[in-house]
Amino acid sequence: MADLNERDTKVVQYLSEAYGKEKELETSLEAHIAMTTKAPYKKRLQQHLRETKAHARGLERRIKKLGGGGQLTQTAVGKVMAVAKGPLHMVRGSGEQEKMLKNAKTEYFNEHEEIATYLAIETLAEKVGDRETAILAKGIRREEERMAKFLEGQIKSLSGAVVSEEVPSAQRKAASGSRRRAAPKRPAKAKRARKPARASRR
Ligand SMILES: [Fe+2]
Ligand SMILES: [Fe+2]
Repeated sequence: MADLNERDTKVVQYLSEAYGKEKELETSLEAHIAMTTKAPYKKRLQQHLRETKAHARGLERRIKKLGGGGQLTQTAVGKVMAVAKGPLHMVRGSGEQEKMLKNAKTEYFNEHEEIATYLAIETLAEKVGDRETAILAKGIRREEERMAKFLEGQIKSLSGAVVSEEVPSAQRKAASGSRRRAAPKRPAKAKRARKPARASRR
């Protein structure tokens, strides 16, 4: 590391921080996949786990090419933190749908943190003329954005599912008390209309 100039040192530092986060998220995604019973959602999480692993590999390649690599050991810290958080996620919420909703909210937060990270790396790299790093960061950011978009839909549908699972149908309407009475005749919907959760492709 001693022979890297300031520019490459800074780029390597940012790439290494992103790498640590990706490794942490691998563990987190694995824990969430194990808890997810909704098939299309689970499938998309598995797809993003593959993307996440590819992000880490891409970052590692770039770091090594720039002459860095010593910082990659900090990954261990992220891993340990994620492992520690894993069991915590298992006790989330009262019902199955709520557990998945809470995980989706965490994932949504994480994707946005990643989006910010890669936007910063891309901009930094452009400013110092490191085109290869900029292209890498931009490509990764696009995948994080697609995942965030998918999660937005999941958060909405899982919130609805929590209502179906935990609130009796008679209590679902007219919380303000003014619009109309709860319709007692309607049987509880077993399932919400399921949108085909399309695995976004490139
Ligand atoms: Fe990622
Ligand atoms: Fe991600």
